[in-house]
Amino acid sequence: MNRVFSGVQPSGNLHLGNYLGAIRNFVRLQEEYECIYCVVDLHAITMWQDPAELRSNTRTVTAAFLAAGIDPKAQIIFNQSQVPAHAELAWIFHCVARLGWLSRMTQFKEKAGKKRENASVGLYVYPDLMAADILLYKATHVPVGEDQKQHLELCRDIAQKFNHDFGVAYFPLVEPLILGEATRVMSLRDGTRKMSKSDPSDYSRINLTDDATAIARKIRRAKTDPEPLPGSPEGLRGRPEADNLIGIYAALADTSKEEACRRFDGAQFSTFKEALAELTVSTLGRIGAEMRRLLADPGYVDSVLRDGRARASAIAEANLGEIHGIVGLLRP
Ligand code: AMP
Ligand code: TRP
Repeated sequence: MNRVFSGVQPSGNLHLGNYLGAIRNFVRLQEEYECIYCVVDLHAITMWQDPAELRSNTRTVTAAFLAAGIDPKAQIIFNQSQVPAHAELAWIFHCVARLGWLSRMTQFKEKAGKKRENASVGLYVYPDLMAADILLYKATHVPVGEDQKQHLELCRDIAQKFNHDFGVAYFPLVEPLILGEATRVMSLRDGTRKMSKSDPSDYSRINLTDDATAIARKIRRAKTDPEPLPGSPEGLRGRPEADNLIGIYAALADTSKEEACRRFDGAQFSTFKEALAELTVSTLGRIGAEMRRLLADPGYVDSVLRDGRARASAIAEANLGEIHGIVGLLRP
């Protein structure tokens, strides 16, 4: 059976990268797959979070899932901490994964920075928990942005080693689904850095809750270069900002970079930015408005998470029981 699982951290402002790299694909996949979408609060606390903000961000990510068009009746939406089996399976995976595997993870190196000795242990073992999220449901397909590819390779390594060590064919080898023309959306201030929730400059990203004025202003101020736009994607080489903006345009217009370049061949950035702003506002404006409407009624959002928790738990508990049996954890 095919099953999709993915997660988003409630750790700050959701932005255009989260939407194009992940959430938009979550919505599309529900046509074809049974999907489980998780607000990964236990991942968020690998870096300190203000408790009140964490609670509020958990509802905001849930509202974004709903506003983008995920059907909470047909699919499962819940927050990770409410299904304890995630943390339990992560423990088992800490005993399967090797130190050497985790120390190769580039996200850890980036997030820990120079003060590695000061990083939380949770940040280091973060990919084990991510593998537990996915494999607890024996998910087969995982839609993510480009930055999560290495973590999914680790998830495959864990599944493979577990199956091998216990002589079973229990866990599937997951397939990453990295879809669209904007799988790595870059900062609007610097085309060589990823658009990120934690960038101190709000001008670096377009938040899902930005209004039309803010979106237009951020796009107008986005860094560019002095050349006009090229007629084909080859002309974007060595021009990271132009490449990023064309990629965003192509993704939002649901077309290819080739077609986007054809449309704007020889245009000045000012003309192109106007079209891009209009397109962005028309897509995100609707989602932001719906998020605001949903967040005015947290009772409904919470009821979605409660219902999701019950349905996720049923699958998780059954699978964790089987996993205990395979590992030899006695239920007397
Ligand atoms: P996070 O905010 O780290 O929980 O990421 C949630 C999802 O958004 C993951 O699938 C990421 O790969 C994706 N994502 C985050 N930042 C970007 C970005 N700048 N471009 C594309 N996808 C992204
Ligand atoms: N690590 C992912 C990110 O930061 C979030 C995540 C946690 C996830 N568990 C997952 C994504 C399971 C896919 C599947 O983007």
